[in-house]
Amino acid sequence: MNFQEASTEVRQLLNKVNPAELPKLLDWIRNSDELDELLLDNRKVMLRSIAEDLRTCLPLDAIFPTEVAAHQKMQMCAQPTVHVDAFLYDDQHVDALCEEGAMSRNYCLNCGSHKTTPLDFISHSFSIPELQFLFQNVLPDLSGRTLLDVGSRLGAVLYGGYVYSSASQLLGVELSEDFVRLQKKIVEKYRLNDRVQVLQADICTQDVLLQSVDILIMNNVFEFFMEPIKQVRAWEFIIQNFRKSGSLLVTVPSLQESLDALQEALPTGWVEELPVDYDVYVDKDADPDALRLIHLYRVL
Ligand SMILES: C[S@@+](CC[C@H](N)C(=O)[O-])C[C@H]1O[C@@H](n2cnc3c(N)ncnc32)[C@H](O)[C@@H]1O
Repeated sequence: MNFQEASTEVRQLLNKVNPAELPKLLDWIRNSDELDELLLDNRKVMLRSIAEDLRTCLPLDAIFPTEVAAHQKMQMCAQPTVHVDAFLYDDQHVDALCEEGAMSRNYCLNCGSHKTTPLDFISHSFSIPELQFLFQNVLPDLSGRTLLDVGSRLGAVLYGGYVYSSASQLLGVELSEDFVRLQKKIVEKYRLNDRVQVLQADICTQDVLLQSVDILIMNNVFEFFMEPIKQVRAWEFIIQNFRKSGSLLVTVPSLQESLDALQEALPTGWVEELPVDYDVYVDKDADPDALRLIHLYRVL
């Protein structure tokens, strides 16, 4: 049954419901978790299982002590900010951790008082609903194409691409040795190595790789991990080498926003932005504001 047929049947069914019971039914359709369970397929189950494995190997903030720049950058944020990795922790996890007292959504303005204000949360990974949106609604069919995730960290994009796309190769380049080790462990455990490979390297050494791939994913790669001057050099290197006409680039936030923040005259005319439909329903846990930060470009 296609969407049109299904919506006609739902309308007919709603017409048969006792009008006094209709608001209760509509409320159940809108707010109950039971219907969302229908969207829980093996792919999501596998991603959740990977996230569970990763949680056991990482501190709660999912930042390794070796990530000195990331720790410093967190402390320099204008508002008190905590890193809650969205691939590892969904809203229900965060609520449970807050109830246990292991995490907080607020901080105390005047220690000991009840005067509190919300903490800013940031995530260094895509959440599972964002991955689903990326591969099912933003990118086209990736059959026969090679995707490179710049700064693959936990490997979320690689695992998401494995279950939600037909990309022939999913490559991750990551600076941190600790995260590369972790990704390799997952790739081995879940037998993903027929399509997934991870390389420990600075992307600025990977000109040949950048010239050969078809899709490049850049989810907030540099901002928290490199000084602005190095970020400018990294962008210049990427713009010089990711030039195959028709290749696709995904950035978070938009390319304009990422480059404007660096206050350097970096070119944007080598790509054109493609439209993305942000109004599709993905999952009740999807954060619409986070989805809107995902931008798609085609190399000219
Ligand atoms: C925000 S995380 C992106 C995580 C992942 N791509 C995702 O979307 O779930 C950025 C990662 O990029 C890595 N990184 C930063 N600069 C890099 C560079 N020059 N070369 C390779 N990796 C880099 C950082 O170590 C960090 O793990």
